[in-house]
Amino acid sequence: MGLDPGNIVQNQIYLSGGTAWPVGAGAWEARAREVLAQGPFDYVAGGAGAEETMRANLEAFGRRALRPKMLVGTAERDLSVEVLGVRSPAPFLLAPVGVLSIVHADAELAVARASKATGVPMVLSSAASTPLEDVAALDPPRWFQLYWWGDPELAESLVRRAEAAGYGAIVLTVDTLTLGWRPRDLRNGYLPFLQGEGFAQFFSDPAFLARLEKPPAEDRATASLMALAAFSNLGLTWDDLARLREWTSLPMLLKGVLRQDDAKRALDHGVDGLVVSNHGGRQVDGSIAALDALAEVREAVRPDAVVLMDSGIRTGADVVKAVALGADAVLLGRPYAYGLAVGGQEGVEAVITQLAAEVDLTLALAGARTVAELDASFVA
Ligand code: FNR
Repeated sequence: MGLDPGNIVQNQIYLSGGTAWPVGAGAWEARAREVLAQGPFDYVAGGAGAEETMRANLEAFGRRALRPKMLVGTAERDLSVEVLGVRSPAPFLLAPVGVLSIVHADAELAVARASKATGVPMVLSSAASTPLEDVAALDPPRWFQLYWWGDPELAESLVRRAEAAGYGAIVLTVDTLTLGWRPRDLRNGYLPFLQGEGFAQFFSDPAFLARLEKPPAEDRATASLMALAAFSNLGLTWDDLARLREWTSLPMLLKGVLRQDDAKRALDHGVDGLVVSNHGGRQVDGSIAALDALAEVREAVRPDAVVLMDSGIRTGADVVKAVALGADAVLLGRPYAYGLAVGGQEGVEAVITQLAAEVDLTLALAGARTVAELDASFVA
């Protein structure tokens, strides 16, 4: 388990005369496009509306530059972080990405094996293709992401199952109380949930199964429609968070926070951590770039508040910029889904290894020995 230092990863590639894997987020995406049908590829790659927010996420990193510090003495480095009791050998985790069965048959099981092998924790999605207990059986370092479906009994059941299965935190996603307007999927007429993909938590849940006349194995179409009907929950409010607290003693994070007032309110409600995120531009098109929101949120909350971010992390420099601007760690989204599409477990491991190597070399050359040494002075 673990990750090699960047120069070792780099030397291995040079000494082998190159690598069969793509290198760089754009190259992974291009390879994934070759191996996937249009529906699944667009489902992963696409965003809401005119995809302005998707672009803004990337541009926000481009607008900021690193200010490398010289002669610091960075021969020894430690990239690891600990966030709310989970350790990662690199300052990133794997974001919750649902319906991974549409990109690879091994889906979350491959991701769990890659997570276990590298030590980089995964956040399992509520909309995953694999029951949470089956993922837990592979024992990756893990958190569980909760979609609080418009069905309180099911939400409670999922949270209790996750705690029983050894997940270390509940990440409640609050930006997707219904699906955003996604033109690529609308043009393709493609919604994987309609084929019953992404409902493994439902189809393995006693509370849900009790409501079906026939089990999903006999009537998948009806089961899928019932699950889809339960998805939307736009009535959820701050007052509901108290119930989540009653269901679990695990740390609780709120994913999808983009405003200072919401960040403060979440912490006032006893939330243990925030994930600043716009869901990779898949929900509210035209919304603020996640990195810009991170800088604002970090300003508004106590210095010791746990703040993670995602949406737009593509390179080692992106990770370093986000951490320097106050993220305790970041979440990697689409890039590892492309790794999965291209090469299953090994593809996910290759994406993780490459990103960690790039973070390591960026730290070394930018003059920081640990991620804790990064501060806003590193960013112009
Ligand atoms: C997601 N994301 C997501 N988030 C979540 O909380 N639960 C989920 O089930 C999913 N599912 C999902 C599917 C796909 C195909 C994508 C691309 C994304 C959002 C994810 O956790 C993360 O916020 C974004 O992926 C970050 O944006 P980038 O960096 O991938 O552009």
